[in-house]
Amino acid sequence: MSQDAGDEPFIPLVDLKAQYRSIADEVRRAMDEVLERCDFVLGQAVGEFEKRFADYCGVSHAVGVASGTDALHLAFRALDVGPGDEVILPAMTFVATALGVVLAGATPVLADVRDADGLLDLDKAAAAVTDKTRAVCPVHLFGQCMESGPLLDFARERGLLLVEDAAQAHGAADGAVRAGSFGHAACFSFYPGKNLGAYGDGGAVCTPDPETDRRLRMLRNYGSPKKYLHEEFGTNSRLDTLQAAVLNVKLARLDAWNRRRAELAALYDQALASIPGVTLTAFRPDSVYHLYVIRVPNRDRVLAALNEAGIGAGIHYPYTVHEAGMFSHLFAGQEFPVAEDWARRSISLPLYAEMPEQAVERAARVLKKTL
Ligand SMILES: Cc1ncc(COP(=O)(O)O)c(C=O)c1O
Repeated sequence: MSQDAGDEPFIPLVDLKAQYRSIADEVRRAMDEVLERCDFVLGQAVGEFEKRFADYCGVSHAVGVASGTDALHLAFRALDVGPGDEVILPAMTFVATALGVVLAGATPVLADVRDADGLLDLDKAAAAVTDKTRAVCPVHLFGQCMESGPLLDFARERGLLLVEDAAQAHGAADGAVRAGSFGHAACFSFYPGKNLGAYGDGGAVCTPDPETDRRLRMLRNYGSPKKYLHEEFGTNSRLDTLQAAVLNVKLARLDAWNRRRAELAALYDQALASIPGVTLTAFRPDSVYHLYVIRVPNRDRVLAALNEAGIGAGIHYPYTVHEAGMFSHLFAGQEFPVAEDWARRSISLPLYAEMPEQAVERAARVLKKTL
C-alpha cells in the first residue's frame, strides 16, 4: 500500500493519532491521577466509568471487563447460558460473537442477515429456533442499532434471553432507545479502533438486572463476591483502571465524535449514490457509523485501487462466521448466501471524526474510475 498518492496524503481507515492529539493533555492528566493513586486494579476510575457508561446507555448497571470477547462470554455465563444451550446469532459478524457463546460452553447457531443493512434477519432467526434455543444475540453491526421492538417481541414470544452484541454501536439508538439498553445483557468492546476505544483492550456488560450485575462482578473477579470467598468458577477479567481513566475522558466527547461521523457518512452517501456498481448500505437511522461499508463487484481489484491511491480502505469481514476454520466442525455444509455476499463484496471506506472531507471526494473519484 502506498503511503500517499502524489501530493495527496494517505488517508488511513481510522486515525487514532489524530484523535489522541485532540485529547492528549486530558488523557495524560487522567492517567497521572491513577499513577499517583496506584489503584491499578478495580480502582476509582473503573467505578466512575461504570456509572457514567450505564447512564450514557440508559441502563441501571454496567460492569467493566477485559475485552468485548469476555463481555460476551461472561454475559452468557451470568445468565446461565451454557452446555446444551443454543444461541442464535448472525452469520455476518466478527468471530468473537460466536466465540463468546463457545467460551460459555453453549452452541452458536447461525442465521442469515438482511441484504439492505447486514443485520440479523429475524425470519431466518425464527427458522433456526429449536427446543434447545436459550438466547438470541443480535449484533448492532457497523454502528447500527437493530430494531428494539421486534427483537424484544422475538425473544419474549419464544421465552428466550436477548443478549445484544453492541461492540460496534456505542451511542447508536433505535428511536429513544440506545443500543445496549434493552437486552437482558448487552456487550461492548473498547478495542482502540471502536467509536469509544481504550488505549488497550477493554469491554463492558450492561444489564438492567441487579442479579446479573452481581454475577458479572463475581465472574470477572475469580468468582469472588468478597476477598478470599470464591463462590463460583470465575476468571480474571477486569477493566483495567488506566483504561477506565482514558474511557472517562473519551466518553464526554463520544456524542460529538459520533455526530461528525454521521456528517461524513452523509457526504459519502451523496458522493457515491450515482456511481454505477456501488451498493450503498441502507444504514439504520441514528447509526453511529463505526464503519462505512459499501458493496462493489470485483472487490479485491477495487480495494487495491483505493489503497494504491492512498485511501486506506479495508474489509469487514472477508469471511463469514461459518467460514472460520475454528468453527468448521460446527457449520460444515451450511450456507448463508446473503452473509456470503457481504463477505465477498464489501469494502469499508475510511471514517473517523477528524477525517478531512476531501477524503470522500478522493474515494469517489477512484471508485468512478475503477468500477
Ligand atoms: C461485533 C463484535 N463483537 C465482539 C467483538 C470483540 O471485542 P474485543 O476485540 O474487545 O474482544 C468485536 C470487536 O473486536 C466486534 O466487532
